[in-house]
Amino acid sequence: MTTPDLRALLRAPEQVPTTATMPSAATMPSTAAAPTAATVPSAAAETPTTPADVPTTPPAEVPGLPTTAQPGVFSPESARKDVPILHRTVNGQPLVWLDNGATTQKPRQVIEAVSAFYSAANSNIHRGAHTMAREATELYEAGRAAVAQFLGAPSPDTIMFVRGTTEAVNLVAQSWGRTHLGPGDDILVPVLEHHSNIVPWQLIAEETRARVVPVPLTPEGEIDQDAYADLLSARTQMVVVSQASNVLGTVPPVREMTALAHRYGAKVLVDGAQAVAHMPVDVTELGADFYAFSGHKLFAPTGIGALYATPGAMAEMRPWQGGGNMIDSVSFERTTFAAMPHMMEAGTGHISGVVGLLAAIDWLRGFDQGAVAAYEQALMSYAMQAMATVPGLEVIGSAAERIAVMTFTLAGHDPASVADWLDRDGIAVRAGHHCAQPALAHYGLESAARASFALYNTSGEVDQLVASLRRLQQAGQGAGTS
Ligand SMILES: Cc1ncc(COP(=O)(O)O)c(C=O)c1O
Repeated sequence: MTTPDLRALLRAPEQVPTTATMPSAATMPSTAAAPTAATVPSAAAETPTTPADVPTTPPAEVPGLPTTAQPGVFSPESARKDVPILHRTVNGQPLVWLDNGATTQKPRQVIEAVSAFYSAANSNIHRGAHTMAREATELYEAGRAAVAQFLGAPSPDTIMFVRGTTEAVNLVAQSWGRTHLGPGDDILVPVLEHHSNIVPWQLIAEETRARVVPVPLTPEGEIDQDAYADLLSARTQMVVVSQASNVLGTVPPVREMTALAHRYGAKVLVDGAQAVAHMPVDVTELGADFYAFSGHKLFAPTGIGALYATPGAMAEMRPWQGGGNMIDSVSFERTTFAAMPHMMEAGTGHISGVVGLLAAIDWLRGFDQGAVAAYEQALMSYAMQAMATVPGLEVIGSAAERIAVMTFTLAGHDPASVADWLDRDGIAVRAGHHCAQPALAHYGLESAARASFALYNTSGEVDQLVASLRRLQQAGQGAGTS
């Protein structure tokens, strides 16, 4: 390879050589592809406006949160300054983005890397015998290596690029499940799983006449470990589990569950969609056979994600989609396939997405991961205490280990009107079933509101959330309905 400095080039678009016909990166605004804080309509002024009655200090009964969980090690401001969208306004108020469980906002390093790729390095990969194809291939494979390192995987060859967690689960269900599941086999699925880790298993179970067996939850929203141990048997072929629940925040004992499943010879798929942005991940230590995540929940673009599989699990997978890139040779007599992981990547992949994912991982690794996790835990404790001061507010789930996801109900108000009310104050939370209907049903609910936090959220934003919810309670029933 002759382009060892490509990653540096993507990080510094002003280094791109200019041509007469193409606007050079040097002439582009620094966040060319996205509105900057300065160009977003009604972007927040440097001194954001605060609704008159929002307390600037936490509610009296809540002890204050230090601005850094470990002073000098991580401050949310060091992340916020990189994320242009966090400096815009919504409905005349500074944006408070508390919908990180749905998707995270992107640092300018990611936005600029994607823009620089299209400005300076765009080409299809693998198949072209020219410099640009080689450069794009090198970037794509650098992305694979970065993902492997980020997940603690032993080799880049254990990483397959996919659209996201949903596609990864479907890929495993189809490419592994179709040949390894049959009548009488069990797939164990905890009740807290996202629909994307339930429905693909229902589909393949129907096809192979296997069974999807729900693993019940405790009242706290933990996976009932006794029930899990009882449900495991020689029939169990697959156990799936989220490393963090998107609705209850629960962090189950995945390593222990995996070790137990392996005693029965079952494979384990871990859904890391909600975990990757909140805790250091080590797939080798977890012992998982498969690990899936979505880039867009990790500050990277939408439409790109990754699936890790052990070499042993990979050896048991059949192609699930056919096409270019995944073959070794094609004839009408006999087609042979490329080696893994390429066999699972039919067609042109999301190359710029991989570039964005690479930049997101680089960005995240710039922070001390342990300090980020500690900060988020402190922020969550603060938010839990602050939200408990809102009359009639109930947080769903009380697992001992959890991430900063708070799904809640507010007495007298339906979740949609709570979200609507908060939106008027510029606060984005999600309302609905959160693609986890069985988990909500466990609490007798069909819908709830959810505030989900990321490293760039602050205790001041928690205060704004709490103040707005208090105002809604004071305004009374029906106030949130527009
Ligand atoms: C736990 C969990 N799994 C899977 C998914 C699906 O992710 P995607 O829509 O990016 O494929 C989500 C998305 O919210 C999730 O929270």
